Amino acid sequence: MSEVFIHETAIVDSGAKIGAGTRIWHWTHICAGAVIGEQCSIGQNVFIADDVIIGNGCKIQNNVSIYKGVILEDYVFCGPSMVFTNIYNPRAEIRKMDQVRPTLVKRGATLGANCTIVCGITIGKYAFIGAGAVVNTNVPNHVLLVGNPAKQIGWVCACGERLSDDFECIECEKKYQKKNEGLVILS
Ligand SMILES: CC(C)(COP(=O)(O)OP(=O)(O)OC[C@H]1O[C@@H](n2cnc3c(N)ncnc32)[C@H](O)[C@@H]1OP(=O)(O)O)[C@@H](O)C(=O)NCCC(=O)NCCS
Ligand SMILES: [Zn+2]
Repeated sequence: MSEVFIHETAIVDSGAKIGAGTRIWHWTHICAGAVIGEQCSIGQNVFIADDVIIGNGCKIQNNVSIYKGVILEDYVFCGPSMVFTNIYNPRAEIRKMDQVRPTLVKRGATLGANCTIVCGITIGKYAFIGAGAVVNTNVPNHVLLVGNPAKQIGWVCACGERLSDDFECIECEKKYQKKNEGLVILS
């Protein structure tokens, strides 16, 4: 099992759980109650709050804050400077930490650079959020969303390529079919 790497400028509070092979880069702060899986890359100037759970193989790019209430399943990609939220209607004069709305990001999803995820939603498996999007609704599996407010413009394969209208990937030849609001793999 490979070691955890923690850069000398990072602050990892005692009690934080970090899986084997995970790398934590410059000026990052991990709070005591955070749980981070194996083989993750946690970039520069990242903040990970108490009670956050991060699966295996996630990539958190520079300048991302992951607040209480956020759960990332395995292999989630958080692009640079993307933003999570956890209080829906904050006020500086009123303490609302008892009103955290959870955000769940399912396996393999990509959250593009500088996007914002409004709290209280679920982002489906292998969904792809374009750079700069503002997402305020649940996102089904494999959906590609862009813009503010984010709208669906297509479907994306697990490999990251756009799917054809009949849900096939010309890049890796995977085939999908509709199930509920999203897609599931056929072959
Ligand atoms: C979404 C993305 C993958 C492009 O996918 P694509 O299938 O090549 O899409 P296209 O460039 O053909 O664009 C399709 C349409 O969506 C628009 N669009 C694409 N990305 C967009 C974005 N992020 N925000 C707003 N609109 C976007 C295009 O302007 C185009 O609009 P049009 O049909 O009116 O001309 C890419 O734009 C993106 O956002 N990548 C994320 C990069 C990132 O954050 N990386 C982080 C690590 S560095
Ligand atoms: Zn593919």
